[in-house]
Amino acid sequence: MTSPLRIALIGAGNMGRQHYQHLQQMDGAQLCAIADPGPQAAAFAAECAVPHFTDHRQMLAQVAPQAVIVANPNAQHVRTALDCLAAGVPVLLEKPVGVDLDEVAELVAASSASGVPVLVGHHRRHNPMISRARHVVQSGVLGRLTTVTALWQLQKPDSYFDIAWRREPGAGMLLTNLIHDLDLLRYLCGEVHQVQAFGSNGIRGFGNEDSVAVLLQFENGALGTLTGSDGVAAPWSWELGSGENPVYPRQADQPCYLLAGTAGALSVPQLTRWHYAEPGAGWHEPLLQVQETFAPAEALRVQLEHFIEVARGRVEPLVSVVDAARTLALVDAIGDAMRTGRACAPRALG
Ligand SMILES: NC(=O)c1ccc[n+]([C@@H]2O[C@H](COP(=O)([O-])OP(=O)(O)OC[C@H]3O[C@@H](n4cnc5c(N)ncnc54)[C@H](O)[C@@H]3O)[C@@H](O)[C@H]2O)c1
Repeated sequence: MTSPLRIALIGAGNMGRQHYQHLQQMDGAQLCAIADPGPQAAAFAAECAVPHFTDHRQMLAQVAPQAVIVANPNAQHVRTALDCLAAGVPVLLEKPVGVDLDEVAELVAASSASGVPVLVGHHRRHNPMISRARHVVQSGVLGRLTTVTALWQLQKPDSYFDIAWRREPGAGMLLTNLIHDLDLLRYLCGEVHQVQAFGSNGIRGFGNEDSVAVLLQFENGALGTLTGSDGVAAPWSWELGSGENPVYPRQADQPCYLLAGTAGALSVPQLTRWHYAEPGAGWHEPLLQVQETFAPAEALRVQLEHFIEVARGRVEPLVSVVDAARTLALVDAIGDAMRTGRACAPRALG
């Protein structure tokens, strides 16, 4: 029998601890060390009964883990992952893959040169509901995917913005939240050719956007919109609709993505599929509904199980560095479009 994979955690904050909760329930892996310079990390490591380090390089050298989970602040992702690759250790790297595309390009090159796998933590792709939605789109049952409507409209409480960096330029909902939706739109609907976008900070007046409207033109010809705001009392978002995280009271009947094709349409997360009984029918005929089914499972847990297989060299990462870099490039293109008022294409990487 294979012994449990020894996984170290770099960054034991909110997200790192969520990974640990899932790790604890798995036979195939166990926590072997924590690296985090924060004030609560030593006590947490003691609770987990593993050695604590303030510097991840020291931890890599002394513990020689078989894999690591990196959940430290965004700006450190690339440097930390490069250190892990240099030590030959497979990485589950939290999203965003990085904050700067040039830096991420270095990680793309290092990951392909070293042959050491990196899985980027766009965990929603591991949700079985998303796998089913993707299967429905790819099966062709919707016909030619034509219009895509994505909604991320909810309200963050005022206290969320008590933390200074959350009010500053670059730390807005595009990189923090909408990156998840944009990653899923790429996964479900295909690559984006170009975007146009408007942003506004009209609700709070902080240094980053509180509302955006994005137009998307996909490479396959589909056209889409993504309207987002974190300052509206509205129920339309993955967070509230999907039920993935119980800290958000669920609005199970409200969609966040509406995918329409020439032969059918699909609402996500409900996975209600709409179609006519006969090809060639139209608006005078009743639309029929089919409920697509799937076996629910926690996306973070499924992601971790997948990572164990990736680290053991049995499967390729579902979300590679190149793939995640394309999502970051899309976020960048939307930022450029908001600043310039022009249509912008995501920068090609890898
Ligand atoms: N997948 C998701 O849905 C999701 C959700 C939340 C956060 N995240 C990502 O997880 C990461 C962490 O976010 P969080 O909410 O846990 O933040 P957090 O502030 O709660 O935790 C970050 C931790 O990193 C530690 N840290 C700081 N510098 C470090 C270093 N040099 N080496 C090791 N540890 C260091 C801090 O002490 C802290 O404990 C971010 O990249 C964030 O984007 C992902």
